[in-house]
Amino acid sequence: MKLCMIGTGYVGLVSGVCFADIGNQVVCVDKDKNKIDKLNSGISPIYEPGLDELIKKNFTAKRLSFTTNINKAINSSDIIFICVGTPTRKGSIKVDLSFVYKCTKEILKYSKRKKIIVTKSTVPVGTGDEIEKIVKRKKKLLTVISNPEFLREGEAIRDFRYPDRIVIGSNEKKPFNIMKKLYAPLTNKGSKFFTTSRRGAELIKYASNAFLATKITFINELANLCEKSGVNIEDISLGMGSDSRIGGRFLRAGPAYGGSCFPKDTKGLVSAAEKYKINLSVVKSVIKSNQERVNLLTKRVHKILGSNLKNKKISFLGVTFKPNTDDMRDSSSLKMIPYLCKKGAKVRYYDPSGEKNEFKKIKNCNYRNNIKSNCNDTDLVVLLTEWDEFKSIDFKKIVKNNKFKVYDLRNLYSAEEMKKNKIEYFSVGRPNTN
Ligand SMILES: NC(=O)c1ccc[n+]([C@@H]2O[C@H](COP(=O)([O-])OP(=O)(O)OC[C@H]3O[C@@H](n4cnc5c(N)ncnc54)[C@H](O)[C@@H]3O)[C@@H](O)[C@H]2O)c1
Repeated sequence: MKLCMIGTGYVGLVSGVCFADIGNQVVCVDKDKNKIDKLNSGISPIYEPGLDELIKKNFTAKRLSFTTNINKAINSSDIIFICVGTPTRKGSIKVDLSFVYKCTKEILKYSKRKKIIVTKSTVPVGTGDEIEKIVKRKKKLLTVISNPEFLREGEAIRDFRYPDRIVIGSNEKKPFNIMKKLYAPLTNKGSKFFTTSRRGAELIKYASNAFLATKITFINELANLCEKSGVNIEDISLGMGSDSRIGGRFLRAGPAYGGSCFPKDTKGLVSAAEKYKINLSVVKSVIKSNQERVNLLTKRVHKILGSNLKNKKISFLGVTFKPNTDDMRDSSSLKMIPYLCKKGAKVRYYDPSGEKNEFKKIKNCNYRNNIKSNCNDTDLVVLLTEWDEFKSIDFKKIVKNNKFKVYDLRNLYSAEEMKKNKIEYFSVGRPNTN
């Protein structure tokens, strides 16, 4: 099939590349010329394991192309996927849909024949109806359906190829058959093809993300209780997660949830519900608890290092919101590092996905390009992101300061090992380590 992905970010690029890899003709379009130039010279603008190879393979096979020319991209395709960002509006919890509507207008302007518009972007319930209204006003032969994306950064290619379910929301029957054909290579391998109304699909996406955010927040709050009551949070996670009704995933205590989806989608869901005068009090509490968690963990750094942070050396291992991605959106590091620097601490950080623009202007904050130089003479190591290369660090060997401490926000290390090595060690929700 001939597909056009509007928005070549984490979702548009990965799904475009993967659609090409299962035999479709895909054109990825973006308004960011820099991104498209990079892609046309074989460089991926994002860090995603396995993506570079797939881009090269499908680009060379001429199934995949990149352009800023939206007119050409739209008119060479039958199915147009909207994959642009849907961030939170500044100073509000509402979703900023301006990118979605802008590209809808562009599709209308350039479309010369019958096409299907698919929203892959996460959009509030009823957005498809609004897009349809705009389309109908112009009397264009366009069908609007919803196909929310569930891939996770860092595992995006696997998630695209083996999704638990493919959700298609449409108010007409015909698009279901077309989408079934498009996704046949995945459903043939066992992925569930789930059809519902357009509004149903839009809401499934928000409901899923809000539920996962709730699980994380729940276990993080339980970790606080464990620390005070002498129980190990890992036993709780395992004991609870072994119940098939609950399941063990998203039940690991750690920092606040972050990333490009959970923070904005929990807010977006509350705001969409408010439009219908529905109070989603559980989701509201989750948002509040998650915001408080960042403050709580920052206060713990104070507790570990004492009230005066002036000239204290703090080394962050990882700053992205999770491993195997370069995405910094809503990572806890964005609040923790500026706060600690403001209090006079000297913060340095290392992240395998590279230096981050977000910290360049912060006084007393420096990037180091390897673990050793990041940690060698530090007072406190803060493990924020569980990248593989952080899993077996011999701190005694690399830190040249006898009194250094380790604060492990992912419970990556063994408390017993740390004790054996006489390292003062703090972790999350484990007894006698805080
Ligand atoms: N990132 C994820 O893990 C993930 C997972 C599932 C769903 N989603 C959803 O998918 C959507 C996209 O997310 P993302 O992380 O890929 O965003 P992103 O910011 O990485 O990419 C969006 C891209 O769209 C481009 N763009 C914006 N307006 C355009 C226009 N009019 N024409 C052409 N290009 C345009 C931007 O330049 C940018 O490159 C969001 O709604 C998000 O909630 C994201």
